[in-house]
Order: sequence, then structure tokens, then C-alpha cells
Amino acid sequence: KGQITVTLQLNGHPVQVDCRPDTRLLTLLREHWGLTGAKPGCEVGRCGACMVWLDDAPANACLLMAYQLEGRAVRTIESVAADPASLPVRQALAECGGVQCGYCSAGMVMTMSHLAGLQPRPSLAEAEALMCGNICRCTGYGGIRRALVRVFD
Ligand code: FES
Repeated sequence: KGQITVTLQLNGHPVQVDCRPDTRLLTLLREHWGLTGAKPGCEVGRCGACMVWLDDAPANACLLMAYQLEGRAVRTIESVAADPASLPVRQALAECGGVQCGYCSAGMVMTMSHLAGLQPRPSLAEAEALMCGNICRCTGYGGIRRALVRVFD
């Protein structure tokens, strides 16, 4: 009782789940589908640790509820990190010291990869501004900025 059936595309595959309509996507990913790359941080849409792509645009999985997902396409870090298209971003973060504890890294890669794939590609200043929804709890922004410079400058 009180359950809905939701059908969506998850990392390119059709999936279905029976759950309460207010079950958060972050919970479904981690506890139902075992995809733990999206991380619970603030859980109120402020930190970006839970970032996924919803219909190819970054979205906070902690703010999306099951009833909003019918017919949508969700892509997670598990899929994006396996895609060679995200390699320049992943490499830049790794080589520029943009990863400290790593908790924010999946979310950073999701937002940065999306921005790097836009046509036209944002300027460095635009990319910096558009990364404002991704917070690093180690405050390791020096390395993250160096990675942004490498990708967007
Ligand atoms: Fe979703 Fe922080 S956990 S934005």
C-alpha cells in the first residue's frame, strides 16, 4: 500500500522499481540498485556529493523523488566514469591534486564532465561559477581549480 511502480532508464538500461512515491533517488540508487558512487552529504541539495545526470543534465539525487522519475533517464558516476569521454576531467582532477578524501569527487566529475561536453564549452570563469553546487568538505579547492583551468582554459 502507498506504493507506486516507476519505470526509467538507468545508465542506459530500462529498470522498474516499486516504492513509496517519496523515496529519494539517492536512496534507490544506493539501497535498491547497489550504485554507491553518488554519496549522501548534506542531503538537502547543497553539496553536490550526490550528483547524477537527469536527462543529461546534472541534478541532485537527494532532491529527486521516485514519483518524478517516470520515463526519465538517469545516469550515474558508475556509467560516466566508464565512458572515455570523461577521462580528461578525471585525469585533470587526479593529476592536479583535485582529490583529497575523495568524497566529493564523483559529484565533481559528474558536473565537470557535463560542462566539458557542452557545445559551446563554457569559459573558465563560467565553469567556475557553474561548479558552485559542488562543495569539497576538505576545502581542497586549489587542486580542483587547477583541474578546471586544465580542462576549460
Ligand atoms: Fe545531495 Fe548534498 S547530498 S546535494
